[in-house]
Order: sequence, then structure tokens, then C-alpha cells
Amino acid sequence: MNYERPQFFHLMQYARAAEGDVVDMVSGDPDWEPPTALRDGLREYADAEPDEFQYPPSEGLVELREEIAARRNVDPGRIVVTNGTGEANYLAMAAALDRNAGSEVLLADPVYPYYPGKTELLGGDTTLVPTERDGSIDPDRFREAASEDTALVLVNTPNNPTGAVYSRETMRDLADLAAEVDATLVSDEVYDHFDFTGGFESALTLDSDRVIVTSGFSKSMAITGFRVGYAVLPEQFVGGAKTRHMLVNVATSRPPQVAVLRALRGTEPEYYERVRSMLRDRVSTFTDALDVADAEYTTPDGAFYVLARFDGFPGTMANAKRLVDGAGVAGMPGETFGSARAEWFRFALVTPRVEEAATRLADYFS
Ligand SMILES: Cc1ncc(COP(=O)(O)O)c(C=O)c1O
Repeated sequence: MNYERPQFFHLMQYARAAEGDVVDMVSGDPDWEPPTALRDGLREYADAEPDEFQYPPSEGLVELREEIAARRNVDPGRIVVTNGTGEANYLAMAAALDRNAGSEVLLADPVYPYYPGKTELLGGDTTLVPTERDGSIDPDRFREAASEDTALVLVNTPNNPTGAVYSRETMRDLADLAAEVDATLVSDEVYDHFDFTGGFESALTLDSDRVIVTSGFSKSMAITGFRVGYAVLPEQFVGGAKTRHMLVNVATSRPPQVAVLRALRGTEPEYYERVRSMLRDRVSTFTDALDVADAEYTTPDGAFYVLARFDGFPGTMANAKRLVDGAGVAGMPGETFGSARAEWFRFALVTPRVEEAATRLADYFS
């Protein structure tokens, strides 16, 4: 895989350069408003004293770590504030691989493409474990794939791209498996606010010293450009993660941390409920229109992506470009998410024009 120029970037550029109008459903960049308190926090920051423009503590602003810790019901000392969930994942994966407890990394297929990329970067070896047809995980498949060399089991729930939300039992089984083979379980929960079923439970509730949870505010506050995330690490991993974070980054930028803190304190649950409700509407509008196109599709329990499959039209990059040019709709080819959904396309519901997109797809395939 070529990580210098990520596939989504390549396709977005292709869509932008297209002659006709294109509905862009490629990336996971929210198109909705961030919380009002976040904008307020940014404005206020512009007038702060010069000392507030200097280095923050490397592991993150104390108040922000405390605010996150209170919400996650953990000790603030276990939290490292990172440059997005992406860096939190990197630190968590490094922690698991640094233990010299093996080099194998078990990932669910379809897979968020940066996981195998980071595995390679950290000198680990990826083993992809297929998920079930509905996107759920069968822990027995992970058990069959695991070996003495397994250092890390990494999953993402609610899931990109399948929309699956893993049950607490599944996560418990995966944590047990990690204990059996002396590995670490990492749960990437960046879509934790996008659970449509009410069934999502953070892996932190497992209260295991083998579990690292990563998350961030890119999606929940619609601020992918701010780069604020965090890792919640068991005590034995905290020192190593802080050192790596400091040596690579020094710290996460201060202004977005201040704005996120302000937004955490000043945002009512209704903000998140409104966004979920809008996304639920988009899911049903898009999938209703896909019915007309006779497409097979997933109805997500969480996150904000729909996978769709069109007969005789596999999810290749070449076909994604054909959809841009022929249908005026841009979606990610399934082949970029491992092998399990290579026949599918992933459409991100980050535009109000979802109905138009699905109608265009129906016209294209009729
Ligand atoms: C599963 C998953 N993890 C991590 C990320 C990156 O999140 P962040 O912007 O917080 O680094 C994404 C972004 O799309 C994602 O889908």
C-alpha cells in the first residue's frame, strides 16, 4: 500500500478535477457544525496572555486530561493527549509491540488501511481475520488465527467501514484471548458518539490491564483538522507512550486542546443527539434510494459509512473513477479496506446530497 499518498486523497483529487458535478462521499470529514462552545473557545484563545501561547505539558493540558478522565471514569494519569486518534493508535500499537511479546498483529478484515500501514512501520506482521457478513466479529476466528507470536489484537468499534458495533461479550472474548496469548487488545473508539443502537460500550468497562482504548474529537466535534485525540493506557504502558509522544511531537498543539476543553465543558448531550439523528436520516434516505438501484448494502449500527455492492461492478479504484465520471458520485473502493469487501464501495454520509447521490447511482446502474 502506498501511504505517501493515501488512496482517499488520490480519489478526492480525482473527483475535484472531474468535469461534471460530483457528490463527494470519499472521506470521513464531517460537513456539520462543531459545537458552538468550540468556536467560542477558539475566539477567546486569541486574546489569551502570551504564556498561554507557549509549550503545553507534553502529555496534554492537565484540565483536559482531567475532563477526559472524569468522562471515561479513569485516573487522569492514564491519559496521554495525542495528535488525533491516529497518533493514539500509533502509541498504543508501539506499546504492544515494544513488549517483545511477539510481532504478529491481528486485524479485522475489512480493515482501516492505516492499521496495516502502522504495523509495517513498527516492524510488526499483519494477519487479517475476516469478519462476518454483517460486519460482526467471531472471536473464535481470532482465536484460530492467534499464535504465540501474537502481540496485538486491534479492533475499531463502532466500525469504519462496516458500521458494526461490537458487543461487550465480543470485546470480553478478545481481551481474554489477549490474556491467553500474552498480547494487548487495542480498541479504537473514535466513533464512540456515533452509536445508533445504544448498545455500544467502551472496552474501558472491561477494566483490564491488557486493554488500551484510543479515541479523539475529530469526529464527535466535527474537527478532523484540529488533531486532538487521546489514549487511555494501563499504568505499565504510560511511561513508554509519553516518551514516544514527547520525542516525536514534543506536545499536541495548545489552541485546539483549549478549544476542545471549552467544548467538552460547554456542550450539552443534545448536540451529539442532533448529529446522530441527522445521520440516521441520511442513512435511511441513502439506503432507500439504493433499493431503487437494486444494490446490496449495509445499514450501519454506528459510525457514518454505508457499504454498497453493485452486481458485476467490483470495488476497484478503476471502478471508483468510473463512478466519478459516469455517475457523478465519489466513494471509496472496497479493495482499499483489505480483501473482505473488495466487491463493495464505501460511501461516507458527509453530505446533505445523499439522496441525489443514490439516485445518480440508480440511474447509472439501470
Ligand atoms: C477507524 C479510525 N481510526 C482513526 C481515525 C483517525 O482519527 P483522527 O482524525 O482522530 O486521527 C479514523 C479517521 O477516519 C478512523 O476512521
